[in-house]
Amino acid sequence: MLENYGEYQLLSKIATGGMAEIFLAKHTNSPVTSMPIAIKRILRQFNTNQAFIKMFLAEARIICNITHENIVKIYDFGKFDETYYIAMEYVFGQSLGQLMNKYLQKGRTLSPELVLELTVAVLSGLEFAHNTRDRHGIFLNVVHLDMNPNNILLSYDGKIKLVDFGIAHASYTRTLKNNLQSVQGTYGYLSPEQCQEKPLDRRSDLFSFAVILWELLAGKPLFKQMESDAAILNAIVNDPIPDITTVNPQVPRELGFILQKALQKNREQRYGSAAEMLEDIKRYQSMREFDPQAENFPTVLKREFAAHFIKMNRVLEKAQASYLMDELFKDISEIEEVDLNEKIRVQQEELVASIKKEEAVQEEKERRDEVRGWLWPLVVAAVTLTLFFGGLSLYLFFPWQSDTVSVFVASLPPETEIYVDGRDSGAKTPTELKLVKGRTYVFEFRKDDLVAELPFVPSEEPEKNKIFVKLKKKEQ
Ligand SMILES: Nc1ncnc2c1ncn2[C@@H]1O[C@H](COP(=O)(O)OP(=O)(O)OP(=O)(O)O)[C@@H](O)[C@H]1O
Ligand SMILES: [Mg+2]
Repeated sequence: MLENYGEYQLLSKIATGGMAEIFLAKHTNSPVTSMPIAIKRILRQFNTNQAFIKMFLAEARIICNITHENIVKIYDFGKFDETYYIAMEYVFGQSLGQLMNKYLQKGRTLSPELVLELTVAVLSGLEFAHNTRDRHGIFLNVVHLDMNPNNILLSYDGKIKLVDFGIAHASYTRTLKNNLQSVQGTYGYLSPEQCQEKPLDRRSDLFSFAVILWELLAGKPLFKQMESDAAILNAIVNDPIPDITTVNPQVPRELGFILQKALQKNREQRYGSAAEMLEDIKRYQSMREFDPQAENFPTVLKREFAAHFIKMNRVLEKAQASYLMDELFKDISEIEEVDLNEKIRVQQEELVASIKKEEAVQEEKERRDEVRGWLWPLVVAAVTLTLFFGGLSLYLFFPWQSDTVSVFVASLPPETEIYVDGRDSGAKTPTELKLVKGRTYVFEFRKDDLVAELPFVPSEEPEKNKIFVKLKKKEQ
């Protein structure tokens, strides 16, 4: 698929979530952002809801200033063609949600090593975002509010990043989504205070994340398998949470304690911040024996999603190749249409002006000479002509005596014959030709039924002495 959307070209659809569609895209005209990006385009039904859009824009404004290695970077947000969007860093990988689907379906658990790695990355990202202040230093109380496994992205090269930070207040979005009856089972990761609609703070995210960790270590869902949304909400607020070390005796006791503290229903008894929990995790991690056999995320992801990895690699390569071609031909058209034509026009103007000046001088001279008789001017004219043509032939046939420069000539396709000023140069592209700087040459390229013609003026500046040309079918 290729669809132009504002400044972006949408290359392929990654997913449709509850609130938006996600596309792999590229910026159409900025080489700085030539890397792949992800566009989150809000679904049409949300775009007309003024309250939602107001919140979406306010939150995007805050989030786009957050830069941290464990948070997906937002580059741009706005509106195009009646739909709102966010342009963000593309994470070439899978969401933790997709990985969990595979594991939990078969009751498989993630190794404590991987769980620890995930925990350190996610808590680092959360701590950074939770501490966001505006430029006046005012604390913004940024809370993710939608810490579910789909919003944790894992890249095939081992990066772990949080996405959708506070983008349009989760509880509000959830009400909207459910009214639209498009999403089910998103309640499974709410904190008790979210279920009770209390004012929220950073501790809410810690509870939600701990539910994800519990499920990864248990190999089964904690709340979301319940029969109805109401039952889930009730269980989150009231049901005791089974000790993870009882559910899976392989889980180390220390990790069990940490999880228990993060899963306290009363937030006063929970960790006060991601940093506090991270401290305990790191203390435990430093006591653990290093296991050289332990799997890492890139290995697990490439094994579980081999087909996706190969397919998306191709899509990305193709996007990169087409981007390089675009860039190459952008250069060519710039040289052909802007630089060169302008140069030639200026040179022609200068030439015409100097001829006119010479003519005026000549006329004036002739007028004066008329008085002196005709023999003397004839001799002068003969000498002038001899010198002029002599100089001209020297100039044309002995170019090495003037200033010659090297001009690099390349074409698409390569191996084309090069004609200069109507004569076969004997060379084929790509090659380097010695030409006189400042002179206008007419290049002709021929290969089978493909041709191209191009005037070119070699410059003093070596970097401008490059010709890239794309041949086109000969017009009949
Ligand atoms: N920046 C990104 N790079 C790569 N893939 C992404 C990116 N953002 C989202 N995705 C993928 O798109 C999927 C859908 O994302 P989306 O945020 O629309 O829905 P969701 O995460 O399932 O639900 P929620 O509305 O709770 O965020 C994600 O699960 C993830 O696989
Ligand atoms: Mg999401």
